[in-house]
Amino acid sequence: VSGVSGVSDDTEREEAFGRLASALDPPMAVVTTVADGERAGCLVGFHAQCSVAPARYVVWLSKANHTHRIAMRSEVLAVHFLDRSQRELAELFGGTSGDDHDKFERCEWAPGLDGVPVLTACPHHVIGRRVALLDEGSDHVCVVVHPVEVGAPGGLQPMRLSDAADIDPGHEAEERPAPPTERAG
Ligand SMILES: Cc1cc2nc3c(=O)[nH]c(=O)nc-3n(C[C@H](O)[C@H](O)[C@H](O)COP(=O)(O)O)c2cc1C
Repeated sequence: VSGVSGVSDDTEREEAFGRLASALDPPMAVVTTVADGERAGCLVGFHAQCSVAPARYVVWLSKANHTHRIAMRSEVLAVHFLDRSQRELAELFGGTSGDDHDKFERCEWAPGLDGVPVLTACPHHVIGRRVALLDEGSDHVCVVVHPVEVGAPGGLQPMRLSDAADIDPGHEAEERPAPPTERAG
């Protein structure tokens, strides 16, 4: 999309950006964390390997999410890669919020590194410690982890965005606090 600037151009650019992101059809994962005994987790499409040696994995958490608030107070994250058969987990973690109820009463899990909840049904996972955090002012915060434990038994058929796009998110990215600080208001 090119041409003169203006509201309609912005809208067109946003729509093209959305179409491009959907066409890439990223795999889906559930990120979990814990701080002071409070567990959190959400479905994510924004995640990737971002270094080989040392190994690094990155996830982006929406500032609107309960999981983001807990992750900011935690050093550990577990990233679980969903199989396309795991629709129920995708709905639980992507369609409901820890602000309303405890998701971990509705699924099987066991405490892992520093107590982070590890989903029993998800043997393909990266459990790691945070090594970097980037908030560049957008609606998601970037969290880079160093993998401490990796599960890779094989046979994963990844759930994709196209399998989960109809799930209504527990929080929309637009729900992030606005203004972002009390003084900005
Ligand atoms: C298909 C799909 C992809 C999503 N991708 C992300 C993502 O990359 N990062 C994120 O923080 N939330 C993402 N979400 C939103 C959260 O999973 C959702 O708002 C969740 O209910 C938040 O739960 P929480 O408030 O307990 O953290 C996605 C949701 C869906 C349905």
